[in-house]
Amino acid sequence: MQQPVRIVITGAAGHIAYSLVFRIAAGEMFGPKQPVILHLLEIPPAMTALQGVVMELEDCAYPLLQDIVATDDTTQAFRDVDYAFLIGAKPRGPGMERADLLAINASIFQQQGRALNEQAQRHVKVLVVGNPMNSNTWITQQYAPDLDSKQFSGMMRLDHHRLISQFASHQQIDLKRIHQVAVWGNHSATQYPDISHALIDNKLCIETPQEHDWMVNEFLPVLQQRGAQIIKARGTSSAASAAYAALSHMRDWVLGSNSEWVSMAVCSDGCYDIPKGLVCGVPVVCENGDYDIVRDLELNTFSREALDKTVAEIVAEQQAVAQILGL
Ligand code: NAI
Repeated sequence: MQQPVRIVITGAAGHIAYSLVFRIAAGEMFGPKQPVILHLLEIPPAMTALQGVVMELEDCAYPLLQDIVATDDTTQAFRDVDYAFLIGAKPRGPGMERADLLAINASIFQQQGRALNEQAQRHVKVLVVGNPMNSNTWITQQYAPDLDSKQFSGMMRLDHHRLISQFASHQQIDLKRIHQVAVWGNHSATQYPDISHALIDNKLCIETPQEHDWMVNEFLPVLQQRGAQIIKARGTSSAASAAYAALSHMRDWVLGSNSEWVSMAVCSDGCYDIPKGLVCGVPVVCENGDYDIVRDLELNTFSREALDKTVAEIVAEQQAVAQILGL
């Protein structure tokens, strides 16, 4: 048996976490030989609900689950962790201004960035899920200066899965035949789901004028509004699909994506004229516990404009947050 790894999950009594923690404990993320210790962080009002989650985890008698640390103490939650899922965030309430929402979340991720910097293993990998995801990832990384920016990423994987599913359905093919697609930009309605480099059975899809119309008028709006549609239908935001995306993101980051492109929001190094330091969704390939941005893609005019638009939105969001935090 391998040494257990410590995994912190924030917002552990919330909807996404409820679909995630059981799958991690069952070995679905790192396989059947990797024991885990779960660190579950919540805020004080949610501690009773968290105790319920803990009881259910115990009742599963998972052979891989070696221990559970359930706490509302950020320092304790982040101590010695190898992997971090930052899911807990403050949702926008009725009548709340956008600036208030940004300020509350800025302070949550500032505190958690500091805790990671001080408490976590030096090799920790951090996945930010809580919205606004791009700026929350950026804040966390800003407050953990002793860690490398490549140890932080944000979740675009749900958008990536949605892209593949919708594209396969349009093409009426098995989705496993699709490769080289990605979602660029902000995890918001400006995101750019890009099929301009898509391969089907290793052959490039040549875009016809009809296909372009379909992409602009149907495909992009469906994907950009998918989250809102799910909230409208369910009365609450995507949870099981988000949990599966989070698990897939971390698994591929650690174990590799087998040469497949996957979408991750990462700290830009200036590629594709995305401002350096901005946290932006890009295509990556994961290997040896690291990700590499897919480079030197030729962006057609439509892609370039779509990327510029979503990048401009992230810049504005990041500037607003930087102002709040005095960065
Ligand atoms: P939820 O409201 O069910 O759960 C959030 C939990 O976080 C609550 O239990 C709350 O008590 C906790 N929490 C709040 N502040 C905290 C703090 N400072 N420390 C620890 N825990 C804290 O929400 P749900 O559905 O689980 O979603 C969580 C976040 O994920 C939301 O911000 C949502 O918008 C976002 N999301 C992101 C997606 C993505 O693709 N990046 C997809 C779907 C949701």
